[in-house]
Amino acid sequence: MARKKVSINDLYRKKAEGERVSWLTCYDFPTAQFQEAAGIDMILVGDSMGMCVYGYQSTVPVTMDQCIVHADAVRRGAPTAFVMGDMPFMSYQESDQVAVANAGRFLKEANVDAIKLEGGIRTVSRIKAIVDAGMVVCGHIGLTPQSSGQLGGHLAQGRTADSAELVIKDALAIQEAGAHLLLLEAVPPELSSFITKKLHIPVYGIGAGPDTDGQLLIVSDLVGQFQAFTPKFVKKYCDVAQVYMEAFSAYIKDVKAKAFPEDQHCYHIIKGEEENFAEMLKKFG
Ligand code: KIV
Repeated sequence: MARKKVSINDLYRKKAEGERVSWLTCYDFPTAQFQEAAGIDMILVGDSMGMCVYGYQSTVPVTMDQCIVHADAVRRGAPTAFVMGDMPFMSYQESDQVAVANAGRFLKEANVDAIKLEGGIRTVSRIKAIVDAGMVVCGHIGLTPQSSGQLGGHLAQGRTADSAELVIKDALAIQEAGAHLLLLEAVPPELSSFITKKLHIPVYGIGAGPDTDGQLLIVSDLVGQFQAFTPKFVKKYCDVAQVYMEAFSAYIKDVKAKAFPEDQHCYHIIKGEEENFAEMLKKFG
């Protein structure tokens, strides 16, 4: 029987009942179909597509148009998962109006359930504006890749008392602004555990230890597809790079050796047409 669509109410119920939420990034239709069939609760169409799909050095070059195309494909592949669109760099920083317009595009053009944007206290006005427009919003603090230049690189945050205090203040400000969900990236488990208990909104983690209301991983890390580097918090569940390499190498070998295609892969002249075919060829000498 088809699963009922996962709603924001389900995510709050899961927090109340202590049921952990499974969350993965996804960028394309077939992978979304597999995640949906496996029973994933949530999907993030992350701006990590910049590195995982487009081969950029960072998430910064990713555009709204790219995000919409990928989110639309994922939505079609995962009709019942809770799908979230990730606001790319400069799609919300400029003003509340720009932020609302771009968040709205995710809902109107890709039919997502929620949007996510990076930043703590400094994004409060954007969060309020998008929530006031009727959308479900997820905050994202700790390590925020779009502003990793200011952080001095892709570094874990909140590892000293002073730095942890800033993360807690950001979390409280995001909840106060009306965000429905919060994502903590690369912070100590001691800190994420405190924030998860302190906040009434669901708090999820990537690289934030086991005590959050749910876990997010980047699909390309989980399946062993992303090759550039592997963050400490990643667990590889399979190695598709090896599966791909074996298949591609075998194909190249077969083509060179004329071992592919075999007869079973061929469309022969229809039975009874052989003589006509031979006759027709004579016209060409
Ligand atoms: O784009 C993304 O996948 C993200 C995660 C790194 C949290 O924002």
